[in-house]
Amino acid sequence: MDIPPLSVTTPTASYHILVGPGLLARLPAQLAALDLRGAVWLISDTNVYPRYGGALMAQLRAAGYPTQCQIVPAGETSKNLTIVSRLYDWLISGGIERRDTLLALGGGVVGDLAGFVAGTILRGVALVQLPTTLLAMVDSAIGGKTGVNHPLSKNLIGTFHHPRLVLSDTDTLASLPPRELRSGWAEAIKHGVIRDAGLFEQLEGVSTEFDSSRFASFDGMTTQSVARRTQTIGAVIRRAAAVKVALINADEHEAGDRILLNYGHTIGHALEVVTGYGTLLHGEAVAIGMHLAAQIAARLDMIDTALVERQRLLLHAYGLPTSIPPTVEPARLLTVTLHDKKVHAGRVRWVLPTALGVATTRADVPEALVRTIIASSIDRSAG
Ligand SMILES: NC(=O)c1ccc[n+]([C@@H]2O[C@H](COP(=O)([O-])OP(=O)(O)OC[C@H]3O[C@@H](n4cnc5c(N)ncnc54)[C@H](O)[C@@H]3O)[C@@H](O)[C@H]2O)c1
Ligand SMILES: [Zn+2]
Repeated sequence: MDIPPLSVTTPTASYHILVGPGLLARLPAQLAALDLRGAVWLISDTNVYPRYGGALMAQLRAAGYPTQCQIVPAGETSKNLTIVSRLYDWLISGGIERRDTLLALGGGVVGDLAGFVAGTILRGVALVQLPTTLLAMVDSAIGGKTGVNHPLSKNLIGTFHHPRLVLSDTDTLASLPPRELRSGWAEAIKHGVIRDAGLFEQLEGVSTEFDSSRFASFDGMTTQSVARRTQTIGAVIRRAAAVKVALINADEHEAGDRILLNYGHTIGHALEVVTGYGTLLHGEAVAIGMHLAAQIAARLDMIDTALVERQRLLLHAYGLPTSIPPTVEPARLLTVTLHDKKVHAGRVRWVLPTALGVATTRADVPEALVRTIIASSIDRSAG
């Protein structure tokens, strides 16, 4: 049962996104189909490589591909120029050629890092994204944004470099820690809110099935129910990825609607900064940001409060937070929020919903309103 792949088609790139179980085993055949016949350089991290890297290397070698790998420490701190430089050393001393291929096996960190290296070494070599987190499958592996962090800010150094293929093997999600899985659901829910009411409804319908703690463990499940769940999760990931694909196909470089993907990220990014990276996972911060943005939209009469509540319930069903941790200082959060990267001519461009599945940008959100919503969203349940 082969479902037609999703396709990114922009003026500069054209590639497929395949989602489903067992796909990593099909990588050698997929490379050959793309006429990628040079050596293969695999980049992965210390959590992912031990689980999936060895088998993948063996398959590639068996198919005749000269294959080497480099493993970076797991976590956001690996997205830096020192590691980039080490990867350049490895590739150049190993004799990388223009016709070779870099593989990014891991979550968004490995994808962004390997993507940046692939986009810059020899002025660009082929890249294949092999995402192993839900977040990477529905979001970061698609669209060609690559980059690393600067000590002063996240994702400031980067380039556009689209992959030649994205293979999302859903079997890898079985080993993903539950909290990481929940973080990925936030982006899927975001895609439903901004562009696809049907996806939102589908996520409402299957939330109990995807209760994150159970997804991480297949223990005690029959082979049949594992297969059924794998199929359902594949369909949902595919649909969530399709939202990003459609936005990119229409607007490759964020001149227009691609910015809608930033829903929940204005306050979300600010929360990541003020709590210190790593305290809140990206998706958790985005979930809180979405709840606050929806409240702002309601206060501006753009949506009904019923939609705010419906989104809140869905976020909770996927184990995501919607209130600001009590340690956050509201004034600091406001200041950082108003300095968001998406500031345009000095004004923050807020992405706000106007209905389920529809969103728009607004640059006229009063600062006082943002302050009020932040103040009323601090978590007071602790202590
Ligand atoms: N390029 C883009 O368009 C884009 C979009 C969104 C986010 N991002 C970036 O993505 C990054 C976050 O990505 P992420 O959430 O995937 O984080 P991540 O890559 O750090 O992965 C999360 C954790 O899960 C581990 N892991 C990954 N796959 C696993 C598996 N199958 N089994 C067990 N453990 C596994 C990783 O080692 C890591 O510890 C951020 O750096 C963010 O800036 C980029
Ligand atoms: Zn995000």
